[in-house]
Amino acid sequence: MAIQPESDYSFESHLAEVLSRYVDTPNPRLKEIMEALTQHLLTFAHEVKLTRDEWLAGLDFLTKTGQKSDELRLEMMLLSDLLGLSALIDIIESADDLGDATDATLLGPFYVEDAPERSPGESIVVAEDNSERLRVRGRVTSTSGEPIEDATIEVWQNGQDGLYPIQDLDRFPIEHLRGTYRSGQDGEYEMLCVRPVDYPVPMDGPPGDMLRAVDREGMRAAHLHFLVKAQGHRPLVTEVFDTQSSRLNTDVVFGVRPSLIRTPELGADGLLETTFDVVLAPS
Ligand code: BEZ
Ligand code: FE
Repeated sequence: MAIQPESDYSFESHLAEVLSRYVDTPNPRLKEIMEALTQHLLTFAHEVKLTRDEWLAGLDFLTKTGQKSDELRLEMMLLSDLLGLSALIDIIESADDLGDATDATLLGPFYVEDAPERSPGESIVVAEDNSERLRVRGRVTSTSGEPIEDATIEVWQNGQDGLYPIQDLDRFPIEHLRGTYRSGQDGEYEMLCVRPVDYPVPMDGPPGDMLRAVDREGMRAAHLHFLVKAQGHRPLVTEVFDTQSSRLNTDVVFGVRPSLIRTPELGADGLLETTFDVVLAPS
């Protein structure tokens, strides 16, 4: 492209020139993404007339968000969650024809691989927690209605004080409030958890500063996390929400789906219980 005289520089010519640098991208999907990203990012800055100070503040914010992140502290993931991007990815993926598969929702930043194996009905409460116990049982089936035996159902949650064990490993063992169950012959499973509570997302990093700056409350609606896997099926990341949460309509990460809300009731043995059947789509 010929160098333009200074007076001809405009947003449009600049955008066209930046876009032209991607014409030879060999991977067509990468080309599509880079071109759309360039188009939207530059248009955004142009539209809001981003100042130099604002641009530098934005770069500093992203740098600090990255610096705050490590293996146990997924601050970039949290930022994506708070911006509504993570929930949008779930919406995009569920637009694939997944039949009657259970709705997916956020993984969140507190998932830790390899939760301890637990036998049917075993409790995930390893350290003291005075919360009410909650039994969750259900069946894992495929969208064709067949029971799925030997699916793994990983569950993790926080306790009464709203903290996930990995947020305070000085106080809690890493096995606390997490477990991996396996479905039986009929797809059935049963686990013993605690009744979840509404809790704040981590507010001591740059994403927390962002929430305060825009006067947004940083509270999640009470939930348990599930990751369900079975051979020949798409893995499902989802959550079970408690009807008694006061944040079902204002969840800070936009994760609540009506189909995932449950109303625990007292069982015959006096224990609070609820049912959560899981339907997996074929892979
Ligand atoms: C969570 O559910 O654990 C979570 C999800 C998104 C952001 C923060 C926490
Ligand atoms: Fe959570």
